[in-house]
Parts: sequence; C-alpha cells; structure tokens
Amino acid sequence: MKTKKDITSDALRSMWLEFFREKGHAVIPSASLIPENDPTVLFTTAGMHPLVPYLLGEPHPAGNRLTDVQKCVRTGDIDEVGDRSHCTFFEMLGNWSLGDYFKQEMIRWSYEFLTSDKYLGIDPADLAVSVFAGDEDCPRDEESAKLWNECGIAKEHIFYLPKENNWWGPAGKTGPCGPDTEMFIVRGKPCGPTCSPACDCGCYLEIWNDVFMQYNKTAEGKFEPLARRNVDTGMGLERTLCILQGKDSVYETDLFVPIIAAIEKLCGKKYGKAEEDTRAMRIVADHVRTSVFMIGDEKGIVCSNVDQGYILRRLLRRAIRYIKQLGMQKGDVVTVADAVIARYAEAYPELTAAADKIREEIAREEERFEKTLVAGIREFEKLCGYLVGDTVSGKACFKLYDTYGFPIEMTEELAAERGLKINRADFDKLFEEHRQKSHAGAEQRFKGGLADNTEATARLHTATHLMHRALKTVLHDENANQKGSNITAERLRFDFTFPRPLTSEEIAQVEQLVNEAIIADVPVVCEEMTVAEAKAAGAVGLFAAKYGEKVKVYTMGNFSKEICGGPHAARTGELGHFRIVKEQSSSAGVRRIKAVLE
Ligand code: ALA
Repeated sequence: MKTKKDITSDALRSMWLEFFREKGHAVIPSASLIPENDPTVLFTTAGMHPLVPYLLGEPHPAGNRLTDVQKCVRTGDIDEVGDRSHCTFFEMLGNWSLGDYFKQEMIRWSYEFLTSDKYLGIDPADLAVSVFAGDEDCPRDEESAKLWNECGIAKEHIFYLPKENNWWGPAGKTGPCGPDTEMFIVRGKPCGPTCSPACDCGCYLEIWNDVFMQYNKTAEGKFEPLARRNVDTGMGLERTLCILQGKDSVYETDLFVPIIAAIEKLCGKKYGKAEEDTRAMRIVADHVRTSVFMIGDEKGIVCSNVDQGYILRRLLRRAIRYIKQLGMQKGDVVTVADAVIARYAEAYPELTAAADKIREEIAREEERFEKTLVAGIREFEKLCGYLVGDTVSGKACFKLYDTYGFPIEMTEELAAERGLKINRADFDKLFEEHRQKSHAGAEQRFKGGLADNTEATARLHTATHLMHRALKTVLHDENANQKGSNITAERLRFDFTFPRPLTSEEIAQVEQLVNEAIIADVPVVCEEMTVAEAKAAGAVGLFAAKYGEKVKVYTMGNFSKEICGGPHAARTGELGHFRIVKEQSSSAGVRRIKAVLE
C-alpha cells in the first residue's frame, strides 16, 4: 500500500489543522480531559464531547467551522490494553460544521485529504467506505454513496451497514446523533463473500468517521430533526499513524518509540521478543502516558478513591505491577513518565511545565501502593491461616483485588508459593460483575448528560457562579478557584482550591451572600468578547484558553462575572433558596461543596 510512510505524528497534526484552516475553519485548542459541567462522564471521550452545547444550537464564539486535536481518555477497554491497538489515551483529529456545510463538502474534503499527494496520498483503490443502510428512523444514505462514487470510490468498495455500525452518538439514550460514513483502508483480501467493514477479520481498518448529525434523540426514543444540521468528524491519531507508517502496532509508531526504548533500557529486555514482556511493556507505556496527561491536565487530576482520581490510581498501580513483572526498580515509573513528557514536549508544552507536579504525584502513588502491598500481603497471610483445604476463595481474591489493589496474577503467585490454588472461576465471575457495573455506570453517565440542558441544571449552574464569587469574598482568597464542577438536576458539586475546611460561620456567610444575590433578582447577562476584553472587565477566566478568540462572559449584577459556555437561568430570582448540604475534602488542597436549590 502506498502511503506517506515517513510522516510523523507532529506532521500529521499540523497537516490536519492546516487542511481545515484553508477550508475556512477556526483552529480551537484541545479542551481539558475532564468535561466541563457534564456530570455524566468522567473523561472527554471524543472530539465532539466538549462541543455538545454548540451541536445542540448554542453559537460558538469561534464560528461555524471548527477544527482541533482533542485529548481523549476511554477506559472501558482497559483490560485489552497490551494488544496491538488499544490505548486508554488517544488524540482525536476533528472538524465540525455547526449548521454550515453538510454531506457534499465533507465527503469531497475527506476524499481529498485521504488521496491527494499533498496530504495522505492514499491510493483510492486501497480505500473502502460504509454508509447508513437505512431503517424506520432515517432513510438509506444514497446521497453519501453517490458522492463517494463520484469522487472515485468503486461501487464494490461502498458498503451499506445498519445502525449498529453506521450511526453515531450520543452513545446511548439522548442527545445529538445521526448516520455516519466511515472510511477504511483495505489491507489484505476479504475473508469471504459476506466480508465487509463490519467483519473483524482485519481486512478493513477504520481510519476516519464523518457523522452527519441531524437528529436529537429524545428520552422517549424519538428522533427529532435538529433545527440545524451539523457535521462531526473524528480521526484517531494513533491508529492513523500506525496505518500510514506501515507498523504492526500503535506502540511502534513515532509516538511510542522513545517511550518503549526507555522501558527497554530500564528492564534490559527487548520489545517484540517474548510475547509476555512485549505486552507488559505496552501496558506500562500506555498507562504511564495516560497518567502523565491526567496529572498534567489544566484541571490536574490527583490519585483518589473516587471518580477521575480512582481511574488514575488504577492505571498507575497497574503500570507499577507490570513494571515489577518486568524486573524494573522502584522509581523507574518516574523515569518512564519523563520519557513521555519529553516525547510530547513539542505538541504539549504544558506537560513540561507541569513536570515536577507529575513526577511528585507518581512517586507519591508508588509509595502508597508499596504500603498497601504490605498491608495486602498481611491480609493474605491472615486469610491463609483460616483456610480449610488448599484453595483461596474467589471472594477473598476479589477483596485483595478491590481493597488492596492486588492484581489477580499476583494473588495467584503468592498462593502458588505456599502450595495453594485460587478459585479463579469464582474470581472471574465477581470481576466480570464488577466490570459490567462500572461499564454500565460509565455509559449511563455519558447518556444522560448530553441532553441534560434542563432548567434545573441551568439554575444550579447559575448558583455555582454566585457561590464561586461568594467563596472568594468570604474566604478573602482570590485563589479559591474552581477545580471542577459537576451538576445534576438535583444538586451542584463544586471543587475549589483551598487549604482547610470551612468553618460553619463561613458556610453560613457564603449561603447568605448567594441568597442575597438571588433575592436581588438581577438579570443574567451574556456578552461575547475577546479574552483580553473579558480579563480587562474583571471576569474570572478559568477556561479562557480553549475557546479561541471570542468568549462568552456571564454577568450577574455587580456580583459575578465569569467566562463560561452557559446555559444559565435568565434571572437570579428564578433560583429559589440556596443551601450548602456538605463541605468536605476532595483531595490535598482541594475542598468540595455540595449544594441545592430549594
Ligand atoms: N464523534 C465521532 C467519533 O468519535 C466522529 O467517531
């Protein structure tokens, strides 16, 4: 297959952005890995995710044509990491039309980017596409098929596939969605007469997805046409590089080469030689890379037992366990992190800026894990003392896994050393149940929130702004800044930087200030301005960088002024009575408040 084999990751990112910039798109920076005001999911999982409000109709300050490279995390397949293609962190190249161009432009541009020698230079004969086959919700996409054929894709390489394959978003119940057309590289021969891109024989490798977002799926399961039709596309950077560079695995692309080399040097083993070592090296490279991006994110994640912090903890512990398996030493995990930071120095300078913080957090977690290891081993020995027969129960193994972070392989090893067996089947069952639960949890979170633009959440969002301001005033601390916000229809949850618990007087004062602003019943005014103007006007500018040129500033009387994407209540008087229900620690130096409107 003819491709640009020597293209680097840095070159592919720039080529993408430049291509769409030339087609009139504004280049916007990647949003944080933690979704803003979206209680439904822990991480940004696709390029479109931070743009949901705009896909539902809010005007975007940068215009109707956008492009970016978005950092994403998906941990649903964490157990698959170690094979050739799975990664928990990836970058998605994306472009969007917000009610602007639609199928015709997008398909022609996709064809141009993929095949033109100026860009990827792929031979059209090596390309296949799929389009939506049609069903009771949405008609067969003959238009896309025709456009592809006119561009130069042979009819035999155009496949009609059902919703299962050719429909995108909102990963479930409600939100913007529509039929898509996916592009594949044809590698090898079809496995039989019914082989298609839906087949997993490996003949068709997906490279790009163009979603034609024209419906909003309602809670009743209806597909309502959106007032404006959008385009949402996504190309996975790692996977595309792997195909273009003709590599067998994403871990052999230029994104990973120096990271794997650092691991080889530390453990004295060779990547690609023994299968088990290769798998362990990939897991270490992947998990440490994701951890570095999480800790180095603008909303910096730290290890904890809940939410994002728990995922970070799991990744780091799993990496450390494989580091031990590879025979590496204490402290080596930090050296691998250094290799990641160095590899991404050009594309993500913020990681270099946060290098000390990243190193410290990883070293701290390694220290903590060593401690749990000791406690876990003690628990294991106690368990062995009570044991009747020679088999450690699945339940006990699961407790060691769940409470002490013991990977099952380690428990198995410890048991073997004492001439014992473990009930692996029972453990697997418990583990699978746990996995299903956390999967379902993650998905539900994603589903609900996309469409959760209800008035209740808008009111709580407005209350969040008022409380943010009140906290700074009451605590006499302009650095009491938002670290995270999570709003459901029932309550707001707000994390902010502050070194100590609040006193009950301070809590009462914050409530009072917020309730005074509510009683004042001032209008919530939204204005668009540049970041510089917003700063000059004294707006709190937490997430200014990601919106590009123009930002929205929400003002509530002389009380609060904040850069934000909305939505909000029209007047503060709509909010009702504000009450703080809980104030607690969230992580070191970060407090968490839960509050309600009554
Ligand atoms: N949102 C689409 C995807 O993630 C482009 O595949």
